[in-house]
Amino acid sequence: VNKEISDHSENSIKQKIIRLLRDSREPLSGEVLSRKLSVSRVAVWKHIQKLKELGYRIFSQAQGYSMEESEDFLYPWEFQEYSDRIHFFFETESTMKVARKLAESGCPHGTVVVAEKQTHGRGRLKRIWLSDKGGLYFTCIIKRSEQMSYSWQYSFAASLVVAKIFREQYNLPAVIKWPNDVLIEFDPSEYRKIAGILSDIQIESEYISYLNLGIGINVNNKPGLKTAVSMKELLGRPVSRRDLLYSFLRDFENTTAHPDRQKLLSEWRSYCMVLNKNVRVEIPGRVYQGIAVDVDEEGALIIQTDNQGEQRILFGDCFLS
Ligand code: BTN
Repeated sequence: VNKEISDHSENSIKQKIIRLLRDSREPLSGEVLSRKLSVSRVAVWKHIQKLKELGYRIFSQAQGYSMEESEDFLYPWEFQEYSDRIHFFFETESTMKVARKLAESGCPHGTVVVAEKQTHGRGRLKRIWLSDKGGLYFTCIIKRSEQMSYSWQYSFAASLVVAKIFREQYNLPAVIKWPNDVLIEFDPSEYRKIAGILSDIQIESEYISYLNLGIGINVNNKPGLKTAVSMKELLGRPVSRRDLLYSFLRDFENTTAHPDRQKLLSEWRSYCMVLNKNVRVEIPGRVYQGIAVDVDEEGALIIQTDNQGEQRILFGDCFLS
């Protein structure tokens, strides 16, 4: 538990070994690898032993080393330009907990914590998030000094990026349910949840000091709940969590590097399945009923209620009614 792989200087050698083995049609000898990587043959051998222990199918024959593609790994060196910022865990309580510690101890903007499995995965509104092996569980640490009222744009960007990837890369009919659930539309009255987003924010005098966005996606795991579904169940085949996370990191960075709030919001609205529908919104101790008319510049849901006029709701659970 909590065993982390993050020695980034060593990781870059592993990244190079894997790339060389993947790109080569012939086996590569220890000598060739050691020359190409400028490390000793003993070092090459040690890295290869470690990679084998981690599950890579590397074979050593008289002509040298060769590799067969195998599992879907989430080790840092699998993420090219992002590898230095990834902290990988086989198992941890919650990536939110690790991310908070990292954020408090001065990690750079863009750090990502990923785990194969969480023992105490957390959901919104103090719920638990079952985190069995096969799902994708990660937290992105955002350190941009911006006014706290703009924090919504990061979680909106995250749900939009996830939903877009589902539609564009996997041809899955994804929509967003305010505030940030990603659902799959089975028909206009049946939706099942495929991904959820949780944010943990630290504010200092109205400005964001860090914002940790935790994202859980049902990929190859069995979600357990009837109201949820996984990509594997929908597509009938396992999906590479590595490719999914890589696409997310790339698209999320592009969307948030120079945020255009108007564009983000209008795109987000076009994915949002509650707008112009009759909804019930539950917040602790209160329920609103009415038509969801808009989502405003601060991410709040505006509903035209039956008897309390227009209401602006900043957080809660929203259901079609
Ligand atoms: C929700 O829909 O309630 C939000 C779920 C968020 C789950 C993710 S999994 C990675 C990160 N670590 C956690 O403990 N929770 C978030």
